[in-house]
Amino acid sequence: MAELQEVQITEEKPLLPGQTPEAAKEAELAARILLDQGQTHSVETPYGSVTFTVYGTPKPKRPAILTYHDVGLNYKSCFQSLFQFGDMQEIIQNFVRVHVDAPGMEEGAPVFPLGYQYPSLDQLADMIPCILQYLNFSAIIGVGVGAGAYVLSRYALTHPDTVEGLVLINIDPNAKGWMDWAAHKLTGLTSSISEMILGHLFSQEELSGNSELIQKYRNIITHAPNLDNIELYWNSYNNRRDLNLERGGAVTLKCPVMLVVGDQAPHEDAVVECNSKLDPTQTSFLKMADSGGQPQLTQPGKLTEAFKYFLQGMGYMASSCMTRLSRSRTASLTSAASIDGNRSRSRTLSQSSESGTLPSGPPGHTMEVSC
Ligand code: BEZ
Repeated sequence: MAELQEVQITEEKPLLPGQTPEAAKEAELAARILLDQGQTHSVETPYGSVTFTVYGTPKPKRPAILTYHDVGLNYKSCFQSLFQFGDMQEIIQNFVRVHVDAPGMEEGAPVFPLGYQYPSLDQLADMIPCILQYLNFSAIIGVGVGAGAYVLSRYALTHPDTVEGLVLINIDPNAKGWMDWAAHKLTGLTSSISEMILGHLFSQEELSGNSELIQKYRNIITHAPNLDNIELYWNSYNNRRDLNLERGGAVTLKCPVMLVVGDQAPHEDAVVECNSKLDPTQTSFLKMADSGGQPQLTQPGKLTEAFKYFLQGMGYMASSCMTRLSRSRTASLTSAASIDGNRSRSRTLSQSSESGTLPSGPPGHTMEVSC
């Protein structure tokens, strides 16, 4: 039988009648600029329609970066600060990005009719194959925050072969226990939905500090025209099932995972516990100082650098792609890490607030990094 051979196909773009090569180039550039501004699509799924926005052009043999936002946010309010951060461009130019908006969270989304059955988080995860099929993508690197991190983890558990890596910020893999429910019900008696969601996103210290960022997000959530939809996503989050992760057990994430949490974040304990349930040879744990509840908003620089090392560990970012600064930092940290490497699989590495440096860890080390 003839062997299959990999062939390089170069796309031939015929000129339109009367079109000069210069005009064709300009049209192509315009199309590319349009792609870089993001193209929004919707697909029908068994659980209703879902909207997502695609940036960049697909790169052969590269997974797409697929993001999933937290409750109270949409892809822009959750990820724009990170993905438009200067140093991030060096990374994302190598990947197509698919930013999913949970149903009813997209800009201008109409309010669902009364009695609408909002999908559970498991069902939100089950919508992802429809998105990938529509785009004809076979593999992703997932980046999720809070409820979005849970959705992507659930997807990774059910479709392990399509997930090359996961960045999980503020993940809580456990279902609410009865104590959590009691506390939730009590808070609900005195607080509005928007205040409860703000308490999920930010630490009490941040909320009482009332910085410009907090004012901005308080304003966004309190005045959201789709607040009723947000409440439905919030309810699905609170009704999530336990992911039942078990280190060494049947239910575990198989891909490299970077867990991220702020050291003052409301979900710190949950992320620490999640770390204890994952395979230490596949997991990096990044605990960020001075980042509050939403490190992707407050510390995009540190997170970008950590993401770069995470991708490098997966073999995607050759050091030649890195800035000179990052390269020199990696060199010094790699030698430091190798001293530590013999001691234990699970490493704790610290760094100062200013440096923002992160160790380049080969997959196979759990790193707790206090930035
Ligand atoms: C991106 O380039 O992936 C991006 C741009 C704007 C908002 C969010 C993401």
